[in-house]
Formats: sequence, C-alpha cells, structure tokens
Amino acid sequence: MASGGGNGRKPLISGNWKMHHNHFEAIQTVQKLSYQLGSDDYAAVDVSVHPPFTDLRSVQTVLESDEVPVALGAQHCHWEDKGAFTGEVGPPMLAKLNVAYVIAGHSERRDLFGETDEMVNRKVRAIIAAGMTPIMCVGEHLEEREAGTTEERVSSQVRAGLEGVPGEQVGAMVIAYEPIWAIGTGRTATPEDAQAVCGVIRSVVGELAGEAAAGAVRIQYGGSVKPTNTAELMAQPDIDGALVGGASLDPDDFSRIVRYRKE
Ligand code: PGA
Repeated sequence: MASGGGNGRKPLISGNWKMHHNHFEAIQTVQKLSYQLGSDDYAAVDVSVHPPFTDLRSVQTVLESDEVPVALGAQHCHWEDKGAFTGEVGPPMLAKLNVAYVIAGHSERRDLFGETDEMVNRKVRAIIAAGMTPIMCVGEHLEEREAGTTEERVSSQVRAGLEGVPGEQVGAMVIAYEPIWAIGTGRTATPEDAQAVCGVIRSVVGELAGEAAAGAVRIQYGGSVKPTNTAELMAQPDIDGALVGGASLDPDDFSRIVRYRKE
C-alpha cells in the first residue's frame, strides 16, 4: 500500500459537493474525473466523492459500470436505521448503495442544522455499525481561534465524537480538521497551523483509543484546499488527506488536487 509519508497511512482525498450538482451534472463530473485520473493516482491516493443524496444511485452506477476506483461517499445520515424521521436517510440505506464513507458533523450541519456533539457521536457509531467509514469533522470558529481556544475546542469535539467507539474502529476512521473560518472563504490555515491542530487530534486519539489507533487514524485537512496549496498541506506529518468543498466541483481542479504530488 502506498503511503503519504512512510507512515503506512494511505492519503484520502474527498470531494464534498455540498448542495451542488443534480444527477446529470454529477454523472458528467465523475466521468470527467475518471478521464483525468490513472492507476498510478489511485495507487498513491484513495479518492471519494460525496454528492447529494439524489445523485448517489447515478454516481454509483457510473463508478461501478466503468470500474472507476473512486469511492462513493455521502454527506450526512441519521443515526437510526429507519423510522418516522421525515426527510432523513438511515445508514443501511447508504450502505446498500455501496457508500463507503459518510461525513458526520460537518460544521455546516452543526451550525445551520443544530447538530450537537452527541448527535455526531450517535451518527459515527451508526455509520460504523452499517459497515461504512465515518469522516468525522471537527474545527473551531474564528472567535475561538482568536481567543486561543482552538485546541480545547477541537479536543472536546474529538472526545465527544469518539465516545464509546472501540479503539480498532477509531483506527479505521477518518477525522477531518476543518477550521470553520477557512471553509469557502479562500483563507487556508497555514500548513504549520493545520499540522499543529492535526497533531493534537492524533494525540487525543492516542489517549482515548490507544497508540495503534492514533497511528492508523487518517486525519484530513479541509478549508479552501486548492490545487496550489495541497502539496504543502499534504507534506505535514499528521495530515493524511483533504476534504475539499468548492474545488471538488470542477473535475479539472479536483484531479489536480488528487495529483498534488505532480503539481
Ligand atoms: P471548501 O469546503 O473547500 O469550499 O472550503 C470544505 C468543506 O466544507 O468540506
């Protein structure tokens, strides 16, 4: 298995499309992406795309029929398998579409839709129980960064989100550090700042779940990742991938991000 910095962790670069692209646009986007990426790229980096729910079946069909080794991801789910939860989707429904990764606790879900740490924890456990991998997002607001409480905020989100998750399952997860002030703003954390927080996340995982889990868990950075800044972020020892929003909508930009080694 290829690894980022010789640490055994294969990088994961994920495209979070948010509420963009209908299913026709989604099909075109993954087809164009598949023309740009080759077997050497997939050998070096795991890639996932996270379209809106309405696109999942169409994107699944394209990826599977064209044998494109891009993993299918979702942006959100409920923690219950089924029930009277109008508008929600249960983890087994996503698993049935061969969804591999589900984002949990994105800051837009936390800030705009009232998701709490406790809800994020329930979702993380439900995603794992359905056989998928959570990408659990954590990150501080600008006021928290300015007040010097970034580490405290992020550590408490990690502790709450991982509550009750066994160590070996934590090691198989993905945690995305996304400073909220960097999302969609064009402002990216410096590689040094991003590394510092990702290092804190890894040590909190070590405390909670043991050294093996800390060594295995993949930590992504997210927040205005672009083709021009990916390589320097990925060079950091505790950054194992990227969660990309805006730049993942364009297959040219997203493929350049996946091919950051060649930029
Ligand atoms: P951005 O979004 O790349 O547009 O800043 C990142 C995210 O929200 O995951």
